[in-house]
Amino acid sequence: MPVRYSMSRHTLSALATASLFAACSRGPQPGAAPAPAAAVGIRPDAAAVRPVDPVRAAAAAKAAFPAGWRFEAGTEATFAEHAMVVSVQKHASEAGVEIMKAGGNAVDAAVATGFALAVTSSSNGNIGGGGFMTIRMADGRIATLDYRETAPAAATRNMYLDADGKLTNKSTVGYLASGVPGSVAGMAEALAKYGTMPLAKVMAPAIRLASEGYLIDRDTARDTARAAVPCSRLIAQFGGKDLFCPGGESLKGGTVFKQPDLARTLSLIAAQGPKAFYEGSIADSLVAEMKRGGGIITKADLKAYKPIWRTPITGSYRGHTLITMPPASSGGITMLETLNILETFAPLPPAGSAGYAHLVGEALRRSFTDRNAKLGDPAFVKVPVEQLTSKAYATTLAAQIDKSKASKTPAFKAGTEPEHTTHYSVVDATGNAVATTTTLNGGYGSGVWVRGGGFFMNNEMDDFAAAPGQPNMFGLVQGEVNAIQPGKRMLSAMSPTIVLDPNGNLMMVTGAAGGPTIITATMEIILNVVEHGMTLADAVKAPRIHHQALPDQLDYEQRGLSAAVVDSLKAMGHTVGTRTSLATANSILRVRGGWHGVGEPRSTGTTAVGY
Ligand code: DON
Repeated sequence: MPVRYSMSRHTLSALATASLFAACSRGPQPGAAPAPAAAVGIRPDAAAVRPVDPVRAAAAAKAAFPAGWRFEAGTEATFAEHAMVVSVQKHASEAGVEIMKAGGNAVDAAVATGFALAVTSSSNGNIGGGGFMTIRMADGRIATLDYRETAPAAATRNMYLDADGKLTNKSTVGYLASGVPGSVAGMAEALAKYGTMPLAKVMAPAIRLASEGYLIDRDTARDTARAAVPCSRLIAQFGGKDLFCPGGESLKGGTVFKQPDLARTLSLIAAQGPKAFYEGSIADSLVAEMKRGGGIITKADLKAYKPIWRTPITGSYRGHTLITMPPASSGGITMLETLNILETFAPLPPAGSAGYAHLVGEALRRSFTDRNAKLGDPAFVKVPVEQLTSKAYATTLAAQIDKSKASKTPAFKAGTEPEHTTHYSVVDATGNAVATTTTLNGGYGSGVWVRGGGFFMNNEMDDFAAAPGQPNMFGLVQGEVNAIQPGKRMLSAMSPTIVLDPNGNLMMVTGAAGGPTIITATMEIILNVVEHGMTLADAVKAPRIHHQALPDQLDYEQRGLSAAVVDSLKAMGHTVGTRTSLATANSILRVRGGWHGVGEPRSTGTTAVGY
C-alpha cells in the first residue's frame, strides 16, 4: 500500500530540474517499497503522498460496502507514474495524454480533453454549453474560471410560465431553453492564461476525432442507447436527428461516427480563436438556428459573452485544503459549509452507519437550505460567502443537530435526475492540476442542434429559479436570488475541486456530474479518502447518499445501505428514498510513485489514462 514521505514545497521546486530525468526513469510500482525522498528521479512534489493505513482502509470499505452492494471493495485504480487524465470517455482522456506527451501542461491537456469530449461525448461534452474550471499550478498559484452560460438580453423573469403561472417545459426543451454558451471562450481563456500551447495544437485531437470519426464502443453505444428517448422525443424534433438518430435509431456500437460539420466548426475555432464562435460564421449559424425556432440568443449576446476569473473558494477539512468553485456555482460554498459542520463531530461515525448518514444528511439539509435561498450570480445578488464558509457559522449550525433525531424541512415532490454533465480531472508530470466540470445541463441539452455548426445547445436556463419556490428539473426549490434576469448566470452545483494534503501538497483532483448530487458526491469522495482513509477506488465505489433540504428526504443508492441502517434512519425521523445511482465522478489521487485515477463505475467505468 502507498506510504507517506513528506517534503517541503521549497525542496520540491528545487527538484524541478530532476523532473526530466524522472520522466524517463522507472518509478516504484504500487505496492513496492518506498524510495527515499531524496532519491534521484523523484519528480517535483512526487514525495507528497497521503498516508494510507491499509488496515484502516480495508475496515472503512468493509463498513461502507453492505452485502449486496453493486461494487466490490478493494479493487485497483489505474496507476500512472507521471500524469493522468480521467474523463468520462476514453478518446477524450487519450487526447489530454497525447498533448502532455507532446510537452503540454495540465491546462493544455484539460482544454484538449474538453474539446475532445465535445466530439466523443455529445450528450454532455460540449461547445454549446458552459462550465467551471479549478486550476492549481505546481508553483502554488490557484485560479477558478467561470464560463457558465448567461441569460440572453431578451430573457425575462417569467418567460417559462404559462398564463396560470405554472412552469412550462420551455426551460428544458427547445429554442428558448439555452443560455449564451461559455465553453469555447472559457477553454480558450484558460489556455491563454495557464497553458503553453496554441489553440490549434490542443484542438487537433478533437478535430481529428470529428473529421476521421471514432469507433462507437460498448460504453458509447450504451450511452447513446440511453439516448433512445432523445431519439424519439428530444433530438428527433431538431436538426441533429439524421446524424444522431439514423433511421430513427440511436447510434450503434461498432460503427465509426464522423461529424463533418463539427469538424469544420472546430477547425474554424482552432484557426481564428473564439471570435469565430462568438462573432464569425459559427455565430451566424447559431443565430440562424435560433431564428428558425423562435430562440432569443442574438449576435449581440454572443459578442458580449465573457468568461470570468473568480477568487477560488478555499477552506480546510481536518488540516487538508480545499480549492473549489465560487458562485455562479453553489458547489464550493455548499460543500465547504457541509464539511465545516461535519468537522465539528470528531471523529465522524463510520461510513455506512446510520449515525454517519444521519449527520451527513443533517449537515446537507442546512447547507442546501442556505444554497437554495442565498446563492446566485454575484453580479446580481450579494452572496454572504464569508459567513457561509466560516467555521463559526458551521459550529452554530452543528449545535442545532440532534444526533439521534432528524429535523424537518417542508416536503415537496422531487423531479427526475438526468445525468448529463461531465467532469474531468487532469494532473501533469510537474504537478499542475486541473479540475473541470462542463455541461449542456440535461442530456443533449435543449435538443436543438445548430445546423451548419454541428453542435447541441444547452438547456441551462432551467438552472434558474424559473418560478421561485417551484422545483426545477432536479427538484431544487430556489429563491428570488436565482430568478431570471438578462445577462445573469444561473446558479450551478458544479464543484471542480482540488485538495491539498496537510503539508500543502497536491493530493486529489475530483468533481462530478449529476445536478445537485454533484456537491454531495464530490464531498463524499473527499470524506471517504480524508476522513475514512479509503483508497480512491473504494472511495469512488462506496455507496452514496444525498440530501438537498427540499424535498425533505435522505436518498441512498439502491442496496447502498443495509436494511438495519435504513430502519434506524427511519426511526430517527428521516424520510428515506432510493435512487438507482447518484452522480458520476472522475478523480485522481496522489499515491506513492505516481497517481491513482478512477473513472466512474456507475457510468462508463475506467477511462483513466496516464503514463
Ligand atoms: O450546473 C448545474 O448544476 C447543472 N446544470 C448540472 C446538470 C447535471 O449535472 C446534469 N447531470 N449530470
